[in-house]
Amino acid sequence: MKKNVKDYIRTIVDFPHEGILFRDVTTLFADARGFRMAIDQLLTPYAGTRIDKVAGLEARGFILGGAVAHQLSTGFVPIRKKGKLPGQTISQAYTLEYGEAVVEVHDDAFQPGEKILLVDDLLATGGTAEAGIKLIERLGAEVVGCAFVIDLPELGGRKKLEAMGMDVYALCEFEGL
Ligand code: PRP
Ligand code: MG
Repeated sequence: MKKNVKDYIRTIVDFPHEGILFRDVTTLFADARGFRMAIDQLLTPYAGTRIDKVAGLEARGFILGGAVAHQLSTGFVPIRKKGKLPGQTISQAYTLEYGEAVVEVHDDAFQPGEKILLVDDLLATGGTAEAGIKLIERLGAEVVGCAFVIDLPELGGRKKLEAMGMDVYALCEFEGL
């Protein structure tokens, strides 16, 4: 019997490269009980917190963020990889293991003063989340929380985001990369 969100996450050995343990959330998302448990738990720290919108990081953050926004009765804003959004956007580069990537958001997606909950499946180095936070802040909105299903503490993402003054919440941690 699976008791915790972590029990629903499958580990794939040697994906996408030899030596990597890939934490696969598709098994969590595919299970009715597991998925509801994850969404319910992602919300618990924010009871009583004003949240105007939920922002999700492409791609797995969309699945979680959409469900979280529905539950909170807020709007949802996608932070997308470069070149996907049709309107006027602002862009933010971030560093990957090899090279650079860029995320974008519509420049009218957040209004100054809005309170935003940022959602993604996994916090590793924190580079993706940091780029998302910068986009939200550049439009004058405030990130009131960063919520993840998984934290990989060895990669330092939590420390990076907390050093930016962020409130970081994760449902589980995995040691070993
Ligand atoms: C993964 C994961 C997070 C990010 C975490 O996404 O879903 O978004 O990496 O890594 P970081 O903390 O080191 O930035 P990925 O870029 O693989 O894309 P996907 O979600 O579109 O599959
Ligand atoms: Mg991702």
